Amino acid sequence: MNKIVALLFILTSLTITTASAQASDEMFPKIITKNGRHALLVDGQPFFVLGGQAHNSSAWPGMLPRLWSAVKTMHANTLEVPLYWEQIEPQQGKFDFSFIDTLLVQAQQNNVRLVLLWFATWKNGSNHYMPEWMKREAGKYPNITGKNGKPVDSPSPHIKEMMDADTKAFASVMKYLKNVDTRHTVIMVQVENEPGAWGSVRDYSPVAQKLFDGPVPAELMKPEVLKALNAPVVAEGSWQKVFGNNADEYFHAWSVARYIGQVAAAGKAEYQLPLYVNAALRDPLTNPPATNYESGGPTDNVILIWKLAAPAIDLVAPDIYLSESEKIMKVLELYDRNDNTLFVPEVGAGLDKPKYLYEVIARGGIGFSPFGIDSNGEGETEKEMQERLSPIAMEYAMANTMVREFAKWGFEGKIKSAIEREDHKEQKIDLGAWQAVVSFGTGGRDVSSEPNTHFTGKAMIVQQDENKLIAIGTNCRITFQPLGKNAGKAWQYLKAEEGHYENGKFKSLRILNGDETDWGGPRFGATPAVVTISLVVR
Ligand code: DGJ
Repeated sequence: MNKIVALLFILTSLTITTASAQASDEMFPKIITKNGRHALLVDGQPFFVLGGQAHNSSAWPGMLPRLWSAVKTMHANTLEVPLYWEQIEPQQGKFDFSFIDTLLVQAQQNNVRLVLLWFATWKNGSNHYMPEWMKREAGKYPNITGKNGKPVDSPSPHIKEMMDADTKAFASVMKYLKNVDTRHTVIMVQVENEPGAWGSVRDYSPVAQKLFDGPVPAELMKPEVLKALNAPVVAEGSWQKVFGNNADEYFHAWSVARYIGQVAAAGKAEYQLPLYVNAALRDPLTNPPATNYESGGPTDNVILIWKLAAPAIDLVAPDIYLSESEKIMKVLELYDRNDNTLFVPEVGAGLDKPKYLYEVIARGGIGFSPFGIDSNGEGETEKEMQERLSPIAMEYAMANTMVREFAKWGFEGKIKSAIEREDHKEQKIDLGAWQAVVSFGTGGRDVSSEPNTHFTGKAMIVQQDENKLIAIGTNCRITFQPLGKNAGKAWQYLKAEEGHYENGKFKSLRILNGDETDWGGPRFGATPAVVTISLVVR
């Protein structure tokens, strides 16, 4: 090769490298917002996390085979898995990223995306995942002090050395990820885990008390913010003066969020992945005192404080371990905001829980993930694990075939849902020209005489155009009535077709008619079915 040819060759390959680096930059997972609705883009297109979260102590190489098996059984597309600070930085300043390497290779082999959970300063309000070299120096990295002057098992958000150490470690993880994860296997990162404090509403140490007696930060003193926080609009004042009975909790929320916001910002400066913080919830209906729940985390009443204190956090997310449907539905409403993308990173066990997947999809949320997929904690066999996971596996098997469609339709606001409540009452869905009436039961001909004792019934209706819908459901039946100019007219199914989605296209299995559509509409049994429906008035 003469010199000119060699130079041209180098220039061409440089251009190619730069072009592909740019192309792949555009493919970075990101959250976008339009008209108050949000989408998680993965490979440039809306994506929905059909997730499963590992147990707390399962993020070790020897535990991975069981996790992949659980993921496969569930038909999940994403594994949520911790990264422990104690594992990443076993000695101060000496980082070990080998587990990330192992994870990435195996996730790709299993065709699964990852959400990494940074268990660091806070894990369920405590500091138990701090590296040993920090745990040995309790004086340098202290916990908070309770109102009675006694230490509380929760790290202090006011210690710069601790925040700097976490910031450095998290930034190193993100930098490493950016370099090695060129295929964007990791799509989001959770910063800390259920931060806040159990056992004390805030830190009462002298350092914290001085800040508490000082002025409230300017970000919170804006009139619209004070109003939203139910505080009087005043020009200045200490936390107690401005926020009264809520002062202790708001102060702790601000302090924890500020700390995590800095950790997140440093990570984001290295690699701009979507970042979130998960919340241990409070009762969303009764406004209980903060002594009743984990104080300082992003509970529904302090979401705004978190937004202002930690702008590098893209969203705050509810962990759902509540049991009543009224409460769970309220939580989903409270975390689905113009300024907050709905994502459910943890859902507890219970046959009633998978139905909320439909509500999250319909709200245009970005993901759903049962907790502790790899075992029931009692040494179950592989077969027992499969049985335990089967209720969610049935849902994911259906949803996985149309996950991109769900994400897109949810983002466009085209989906509505009906979730069976404890009273089994029928529900009506307004679809413009039509009203869908969903009644719940085991799917038999006379639904009302067969109440579904686990109240697992649910339906989603995707509006395609005025008279064309897609209905998906279990343990219910759906019928219709014309609305508006056609109200009261006779109607019938032009066509109801059961089938499934494949590569973005509906594949028909059969046309439903006769017993399958008479007697109150298509009936849905225990296995989710997808039915396209065209309606006509006569
Ligand atoms: C919520 C936490 O975020 C999880 O890590 C786990 O501890 C579950 N609670 C309960 O097992």
